[in-house]
Amino acid sequence: MIGPATVTAEEARAWRPEIPDVFNSADIQLFYSGTIPQLGPMEPMVEVGVGYGRSLLWAHELRRQRCHLGATLGVDNFGEDFRRWSKVAVPCRCHLQWSALVKRMAGTVDRPPLLMTCASLEAAELFEDGELGLVMIDASHELPDLVADIAAWRRKVRRGGIIAGHDWCDEWPGVREAVVDQLGGSVQLFGTVWAFEL
Ligand SMILES: C[S@@+](CC[C@H](N)C(=O)[O-])C[C@H]1O[C@@H](n2cnc3c(N)ncnc32)[C@H](O)[C@@H]1O
Repeated sequence: MIGPATVTAEEARAWRPEIPDVFNSADIQLFYSGTIPQLGPMEPMVEVGVGYGRSLLWAHELRRQRCHLGATLGVDNFGEDFRRWSKVAVPCRCHLQWSALVKRMAGTVDRPPLLMTCASLEAAELFEDGELGLVMIDASHELPDLVADIAAWRRKVRRGGIIAGHDWCDEWPGVREAVVDQLGGSVQLFGTVWAFEL
């Protein structure tokens, strides 16, 4: 069962102000605060769509506080979609964004989360079915992309594990449509985060 958030939205927003928020990351932070304690200490988890790393680093720190040894992995291709999301006026090149993110992570924690700089569907192929305890999808919010992402990643989550995603809201009607198409109507909502226990 997904537990209640253990921090307030204000606390989530106040955490590490130097890491930019792409779009309402606080909802993911709150969700992680209730979910990560449910993960087994050795279980790997994946966040698809890392952006500046705000929600991934938060997850990583929560896991480290609990002495979890399971990998916390982030997947991002830092491509066109990142340029759309980012508030950077001059579009940055993917490899520069990646370097900045690695540096930020390395500078703030002694064992940074693992980054897979590739497309979501390519990354999904690298995992065994049922291998993951939690997958958070916050990559493309377009209907066909998210349908494909949910189909690919849900198989990678163990029975009883959680597949979740961000931006169940009016701005992104494709998110609701894709989630209902793939998982039916019984998803749980935590602010703008949707979640399904498999
Ligand atoms: C909304 S941002 C993620 C924000 C982050 N979860 C947070 O709250 O701090 C979406 C990210 O998904 C990435 N993305 C979009 N489509 C992708 C794909 N097909 N494969 C991998 N990453 C993708 C973009 O590059 C962008 O950085």
